[in-house]
Amino acid sequence: MMVLGIETSCDETSAAVVASGPRLLGQVLLSQAALHEPFGGVVPEIACRSHVDSLTRVIEEGLRRSGVGPGDLSGVAVAYRPGLIGALLIGVTTAKALAWGLPLIAVDHLEAHLEAPLLGGERPEMPYLGVVLSGGHTDLYHVVEGGRHRIGHTRDDAIGEAFDKVAAILGLGYPGGPAIEREAEGGDAGSIGLPRALLEPGSLDFSFSGIKTAVLYLWRGQNVRARGPVPAAPPRADIAAAFQTAVGDVLVEKIRRAIGATGLLRVVFGGGVTANRGLRALLEEGLDGVAQQIVFPPIEFSTDNGAMIAARGLTLLERGEVASLDLEARAS
Ligand code: KG4
Ligand code: ZN
Repeated sequence: MMVLGIETSCDETSAAVVASGPRLLGQVLLSQAALHEPFGGVVPEIACRSHVDSLTRVIEEGLRRSGVGPGDLSGVAVAYRPGLIGALLIGVTTAKALAWGLPLIAVDHLEAHLEAPLLGGERPEMPYLGVVLSGGHTDLYHVVEGGRHRIGHTRDDAIGEAFDKVAAILGLGYPGGPAIEREAEGGDAGSIGLPRALLEPGSLDFSFSGIKTAVLYLWRGQNVRARGPVPAAPPRADIAAAFQTAVGDVLVEKIRRAIGATGLLRVVFGGGVTANRGLRALLEEGLDGVAQQIVFPPIEFSTDNGAMIAARGLTLLERGEVASLDLEARAS
């Protein structure tokens, strides 16, 4: 079987073909980062316009790179939720047009993130604890065969959003996650104490707005409790490293709690923030001896991509889970 995957949920336009295995035959991934950079974040109207401008060519080139023609495909998979509604609509509408006579497969973007490890040859056994760390989500899931149940989520900023906002505060530009990661490499995390919001005892939810505000005051050299002259800001690299470490500590604690509450010993990570090697190392260290298995997607398939949509689509098609042509995009 061969499935074409289409991803347009946010600011990446991507198409890929994945064959049974799953084996990636080819992919095109067009990042809109340069278009959104002047605004410091994703502008939905610009994202939509760019998807409209490029999606057809991205699909054509994706098929060409994969060495397959439309007639070779067994199905067309598309990310239909969650994401920017206008951006999703463009992918869904295009997929419907292409799926004339072919199965249309509706892929949940978050489930695709959790299946991205398949592209690296890892097939985690279910049930497992799914951890989605992206620009829009910080979610913990109890994942079983054929479904998932959310057991924790962010109450304010998503983790990727926190990276992006902290990068903006520190003048590191957009997208912020990779910039923080680079800056943190040369920093001393131990030189600065930042808050770790663990919420109520036993809570599996997250809150990242407090740490963002703490970074803001630190960077401005302001301490709300300080009297007298405003102290100088610490080095930027130290703040970036302290931020990344504090976020890592919170994740480790919440995942430990989730393992304790559910008994799930396998942990599968997904989402753009898992591209961060420093954070991966913190998670591996912090969960050592607690989790039996820790699975990350290959770094290149951590952020949004068409290959993970195609891979998830293949799983669904093999199970016979096909959508009808009245499929609707959904923001959440
Ligand atoms: O999964 P994703 O590509 O898109 C969404 O589904 O949201 O995640 C994007 C998020 C952005 O907030 C971006 O800053 C963050 O992932 N990100 C990173 C890194 N690369 C991307 N965060 C931390 N470190 C990185 N290396
Ligand atoms: Zn994503």
